[in-house]
Amino acid sequence: MTIIESVNRYDTGDGALPPDFADWTSWQREVHELARRKDAVVLAHNYQLPQIQDVADHVGDSLALSRLAASAEASMIVFAGVHFMAETAKILSPDKKVLIPDARAGCSLADTITADQLRAWKAEHPGAVVVAYVNTTAEVKAESDICCTSSNAVEVVESVPADQEVLFLPDMFLAAHVKRKTGRSNIHNWMGECHVHAGISPQDLEAAVHADTDAELYVHPECGCSTSALWMTTVGDIPAERTHILSTGAMLDEARSSTARKVLVATEVGMLHQLRRANPGTDFQPVNPQASCRFMKMITPEKLINSLRNETDEVRVAPDVADRARQAVERMVAIGRPGGGE
Ligand code: 13P
Ligand code: SF4
Repeated sequence: MTIIESVNRYDTGDGALPPDFADWTSWQREVHELARRKDAVVLAHNYQLPQIQDVADHVGDSLALSRLAASAEASMIVFAGVHFMAETAKILSPDKKVLIPDARAGCSLADTITADQLRAWKAEHPGAVVVAYVNTTAEVKAESDICCTSSNAVEVVESVPADQEVLFLPDMFLAAHVKRKTGRSNIHNWMGECHVHAGISPQDLEAAVHADTDAELYVHPECGCSTSALWMTTVGDIPAERTHILSTGAMLDEARSSTARKVLVATEVGMLHQLRRANPGTDFQPVNPQASCRFMKMITPEKLINSLRNETDEVRVAPDVADRARQAVERMVAIGRPGGGE
């Protein structure tokens, strides 16, 4: 069995090592040695395979990793995540070499809107402020006023004067969360969704909650079930104090101080690895164990080491696009909670 076949069996985020790849220690040593020799820092998103999270210099949510990319002293960044994240790192650090172990690691949510579509939408709403989730291409960011992540989406929208229209893109579930939190009615949303989070359905949530009546609930705002989670709290199906709508970084903050026996987690399953490490006393279980992002899982241990050895795949953003996108990304980095990574 190849490494790729074996890591594919570890998509559940339980942190166990493939029994047929015994030499993880020398793999880790080589990653660290190559990174040191090449003056590289390895950044990994919370949804990466457990082995990749464990070897990285920093693990975090997309906001924390953007901040780390902006302040990194190393001359090379190896981004174990999806393409828009590595592109954001390049926009923030244009003079560094930014690598992604597989440039085909895309994002179904980012693919729901193009720069042309955004230009047409803006033309329908002259004067509106464009707030773009970081899960977008560099070309879309270049057409936006300010970016946000799930960690700071509410604060970013609150930074816009209340009487100004907002075009919020591309995730409709995150937009619904932002509308609820800010109480603003002048937010227009794009109808995009992430196939992984949209796939965590209200039915999955109801089944999990009814099977475990005293468990706490962590729900990522991109989830198809986030609206029904809040509905279930209003009709008394689940207590409001046990239901938390959180970005991945905020889930970790919550987990560190949790005294819950069990927490049901509605997000991509790679998150479970960090949650279990942060608090071994709590039993963290997925609401939908099939919620695995195949783009995130395209970054395998084999590809990570090849990326460092061969300095591939290099991420490039056209300088004029990067220059236009940078202001929106820098505004995002400046707003919101400082945590989200280790
Ligand atoms: P975070 O912003 O919580 O890191 O999430 C990124 C993402 O891709 C969600 O699917
Ligand atoms: Fe994109 Fe969804 Fe994968 Fe996140 S989980 S990278 S939003 S496809």
